[in-house]
Amino acid sequence: MRRALCPGSFDPVTNGHLDIIDRAANLYDEVVVAIFVNQSKSSLFEVDERREMLAEVTAGYPNVTIDTFEGLVVDYCRVHDIPVIVKGLRAVSDFDYELQMAQMNRGLAGVDTLFMPTNPEYSFLASSLVKEIAKWGGDVALLVPPIVLKRLTERTSSAG
Ligand code: PNS
Repeated sequence: MRRALCPGSFDPVTNGHLDIIDRAANLYDEVVVAIFVNQSKSSLFEVDERREMLAEVTAGYPNVTIDTFEGLVVDYCRVHDIPVIVKGLRAVSDFDYELQMAQMNRGLAGVDTLFMPTNPEYSFLASSLVKEIAKWGGDVALLVPPIVLKRLTERTSSAG
Protein backbone atom coordinates (compact mmCIF):
# COMPACT_ATOMS: atom_id res chain seq x y z
CA MET A 1 0.00 0.00 0.00
CA ARG A 2 1.63 3.26 -1.13
CA ARG A 3 0.51 6.16 1.05
CA ALA A 4 1.26 9.87 0.78
CA LEU A 5 0.51 13.00 2.75
CA CYS A 6 -0.56 16.37 1.36
CA PRO A 7 -0.16 18.80 4.28
CA GLY A 8 -1.11 22.47 4.31
CA SER A 9 -3.19 25.24 5.83
CA PHE A 10 -5.92 25.04 3.17
CA ASP A 11 -7.43 28.37 4.26
CA PRO A 12 -9.23 27.79 1.93
CA VAL A 13 -8.52 24.97 -0.54
CA THR A 14 -7.86 26.34 -4.05
CA ASN A 15 -7.89 24.84 -7.53
CA GLY A 16 -4.09 24.70 -7.25
CA HIS A 17 -4.32 22.45 -4.16
CA LEU A 18 -6.92 20.29 -5.91
CA ASP A 19 -4.66 19.83 -8.91
CA ILE A 20 -1.90 18.48 -6.66
CA ILE A 21 -4.32 16.26 -4.69
CA ASP A 22 -5.73 14.89 -7.95
CA ARG A 23 -2.27 14.02 -9.28
CA ALA A 24 -1.17 12.52 -5.93
CA ALA A 25 -4.34 10.40 -5.87
CA ASN A 26 -3.34 9.01 -9.26
CA LEU A 27 0.16 8.11 -8.07
CA TYR A 28 -0.57 6.65 -4.64
CA ASP A 29 -3.00 4.05 -3.29
CA GLU A 30 -4.00 6.33 -0.46
CA VAL A 31 -3.61 10.08 0.03
CA VAL A 32 -4.20 11.83 3.33
CA VAL A 33 -4.84 15.56 3.07
CA ALA A 34 -3.92 16.95 6.48
CA ILE A 35 -4.79 20.44 7.66
CA PHE A 36 -2.10 21.93 9.87
CA VAL A 37 -3.71 23.47 12.96
CA ASN A 38 -1.60 26.53 13.67
CA GLN A 39 -2.86 28.28 16.81
CA SER A 40 -0.50 31.22 16.32
CA LYS A 41 -1.70 32.07 12.80
CA SER A 42 -5.04 33.80 12.28
CA SER A 43 -7.22 32.24 9.63
CA LEU A 44 -10.34 33.18 7.71
CA PHE A 45 -11.94 29.74 8.08
CA GLU A 46 -12.06 27.57 11.19
CA VAL A 47 -10.35 24.19 10.92
CA ASP A 48 -13.74 22.42 10.81
CA GLU A 49 -14.87 24.63 7.92
CA ARG A 50 -11.65 23.96 6.01
CA ARG A 51 -12.12 20.27 6.65
CA GLU A 52 -15.73 20.35 5.39
CA MET A 53 -14.72 22.16 2.21
CA LEU A 54 -11.86 19.72 1.55
CA ALA A 55 -14.14 16.75 2.18
CA GLU A 56 -16.71 18.09 -0.29
CA VAL A 57 -14.27 18.87 -3.07
CA THR A 58 -12.48 15.51 -2.75
CA ALA A 59 -15.67 13.46 -2.35
CA GLY A 60 -15.11 11.92 -5.79
CA TYR A 61 -11.78 10.36 -4.77
CA PRO A 62 -12.22 7.04 -2.93
CA ASN A 63 -8.53 6.99 -1.94
CA VAL A 64 -8.39 10.51 -0.45
CA THR A 65 -9.12 11.17 3.23
CA ILE A 66 -9.04 14.43 5.18
CA ASP A 67 -7.52 14.87 8.62
CA THR A 68 -6.04 17.58 10.85
CA PHE A 69 -2.79 17.70 12.78
CA GLU A 70 -1.02 19.86 15.30
CA GLY A 71 2.73 19.65 15.77
CA LEU A 72 5.39 18.33 13.46
CA VAL A 73 4.38 16.93 10.10
CA VAL A 74 6.95 14.13 10.50
CA ASP A 75 5.29 13.01 13.75
CA TYR A 76 2.00 12.74 11.88
CA CYS A 77 3.76 10.68 9.21
CA ARG A 78 5.36 8.42 11.81
CA VAL A 79 2.11 7.75 13.68
CA HIS A 80 0.19 7.08 10.46
CA ASP A 81 2.99 5.19 8.74
CA ILE A 82 3.23 7.58 5.77
CA PRO A 83 6.67 7.65 4.11
CA VAL A 84 6.23 10.57 1.72
CA ILE A 85 4.94 14.14 1.64
CA VAL A 86 3.69 15.54 -1.67
CA LYS A 87 4.14 19.27 -2.26
CA GLY A 88 3.35 21.50 -5.22
CA LEU A 89 6.05 23.91 -6.40
CA ARG A 90 4.58 26.99 -8.04
CA ALA A 91 7.74 28.86 -8.87
CA VAL A 92 11.44 29.03 -8.06
CA SER A 93 10.51 31.30 -5.14
CA ASP A 94 8.81 28.33 -3.43
CA PHE A 95 11.88 26.18 -3.82
CA ASP A 96 14.26 27.55 -1.15
CA TYR A 97 11.86 27.11 1.74
CA GLU A 98 10.37 23.86 0.49
CA LEU A 99 13.83 22.35 -0.01
CA GLN A 100 14.82 23.39 3.50
CA MET A 101 11.71 21.78 4.98
CA ALA A 102 12.12 18.65 2.85
CA GLN A 103 15.72 18.19 3.95
CA MET A 104 14.82 18.83 7.57
CA ASN A 105 11.93 16.36 7.45
CA ARG A 106 14.14 13.71 5.88
CA GLY A 107 16.84 14.34 8.47
CA LEU A 108 14.36 14.27 11.37
CA ALA A 109 12.46 11.14 10.48
CA GLY A 110 13.51 9.80 7.08
CA VAL A 111 10.29 11.13 5.54
CA ASP A 112 10.79 11.97 1.87
CA THR A 113 9.16 14.80 -0.09
CA LEU A 114 7.96 14.56 -3.65
CA PHE A 115 7.80 17.94 -5.42
CA MET A 116 5.26 18.33 -8.19
CA PRO A 117 5.49 21.27 -10.54
CA THR A 118 2.21 23.13 -10.31
CA ASN A 119 0.08 23.34 -13.40
CA PRO A 120 1.25 26.67 -14.98
CA GLU A 121 -2.38 27.76 -14.92
CA TYR A 122 -2.05 27.98 -11.12
CA SER A 123 1.53 29.15 -10.72
CA PHE A 124 0.42 32.49 -9.26
CA LEU A 125 -2.31 31.04 -7.08
CA ALA A 126 -2.19 31.23 -3.27
CA SER A 127 -4.92 31.05 -0.61
CA SER A 128 -3.69 34.36 0.81
CA LEU A 129 -4.22 36.11 -2.55
CA VAL A 130 -7.63 34.52 -2.99
CA LYS A 131 -8.71 35.85 0.42
CA GLU A 132 -7.35 39.32 -0.31
CA ILE A 133 -9.09 39.51 -3.68
CA ALA A 134 -12.39 38.15 -2.32
CA LYS A 135 -12.26 40.57 0.59
CA TRP A 136 -12.26 43.51 -1.81
CA GLY A 137 -14.96 42.05 -4.03
CA GLY A 138 -12.68 40.75 -6.80
CA ASP A 139 -13.60 37.75 -8.92
CA VAL A 140 -12.03 34.47 -7.74
CA ALA A 141 -14.50 32.16 -9.51
CA LEU A 142 -11.75 30.58 -11.64
CA LEU A 143 -9.40 30.08 -8.72
CA VAL A 144 -11.43 28.02 -6.24
CA PRO A 145 -14.08 25.27 -6.44
CA PRO A 146 -17.69 26.54 -6.49
CA ILE A 147 -18.47 25.54 -2.89
CA VAL A 148 -15.41 27.44 -1.68
CA LEU A 149 -16.47 30.45 -3.74
CA LYS A 150 -19.88 30.35 -2.05
CA ARG A 151 -18.37 30.23 1.43
CA LEU A 152 -15.85 32.94 0.61
CA THR A 153 -18.59 35.21 -0.68
CA GLU A 154 -20.70 34.61 2.43
CA ARG A 155 -17.77 35.16 4.76
CA THR A 156 -16.39 38.27 3.12
CA SER A 157 -19.80 39.91 2.66
CA SER A 158 -20.74 39.23 6.32
CA ALA A 159 -17.39 40.68 7.49
CA GLY A 160 -18.77 44.11 6.64
O1 PNS B 1 -0.28 25.69 3.24
P1 PNS B 1 0.98 26.07 3.98
O2 PNS B 1 0.68 27.02 5.11
O3 PNS B 1 2.06 26.56 3.05
O4 PNS B 1 1.52 24.69 4.63
C1 PNS B 1 2.74 24.65 5.36
C2 PNS B 1 2.82 23.37 6.19
C3 PNS B 1 1.64 23.27 7.12
C4 PNS B 1 2.82 22.18 5.26
C5 PNS B 1 4.17 23.40 6.96
O5 PNS B 1 4.28 24.61 7.65
C6 PNS B 1 4.27 22.27 7.95
O6 PNS B 1 4.55 21.15 7.58
N1 PNS B 1 4.00 22.58 9.24
C7 PNS B 1 3.94 21.58 10.30
C8 PNS B 1 4.96 21.90 11.39
C9 PNS B 1 6.31 21.31 11.01
O7 PNS B 1 6.47 20.13 10.86
N2 PNS B 1 7.31 22.21 10.88
C10 PNS B 1 8.67 21.87 10.57
C11 PNS B 1 8.91 21.72 9.09
S1 PNS B 1 10.60 21.33 8.76
